Amino acid sequence: MERTLVLIKPDGVQRRLVGNIITRFEQRGLFIRAMKFLKLDLKQAEQHYSVHKDKPFFRSLIEYITSGPIVAMIVEGNNSISVVRGMCGATDGSKAAPGTIRGDFCTSIQNNLIHASDSEESYQHEHKIYFSNTEILDWRYIDEELI
Ligand code: CMP
Repeated sequence: MERTLVLIKPDGVQRRLVGNIITRFEQRGLFIRAMKFLKLDLKQAEQHYSVHKDKPFFRSLIEYITSGPIVAMIVEGNNSISVVRGMCGATDGSKAAPGTIRGDFCTSIQNNLIHASDSEESYQHEHKIYFSNTEILDWRYIDEELI
């Protein structure tokens, strides 16, 4: 199984979509191994989005992601990186397919509700910003074998 780092961004929290989004992951048969409600500081935000530091939208992105609380999660499952990215939909909400999280709830390219790691390398970079090893719980749902 594979792990991915998911953030419900400040607009997702403000718009009370936390429950809806987590329910989708639960119902898909993905397993939550860690979860936290937090407000990113500037250093953490710049670290998370360091690959975008030369993009014209970088400062605006940092302002947005630090504007309010977020939910951070580590989600595990078969091919979870691509499964979760598929559930999120295209980065640009206006191009995201209906049925995806962005396609159902947003049209913005920046304020796009959710972030999910796009590769194992990104997961390795990102998850350490949010969770220490002891915060990633070693536990199993009773029906994991079935799912
Ligand atoms: P995310 O999947 O978290 O990865 C990088 C983020 O940058 C992206 O979601 C958007 O929130 C934001 N982003 C990507 N492209 C643009 C853009 N062209 N203009 C503004 N924000 C963007």
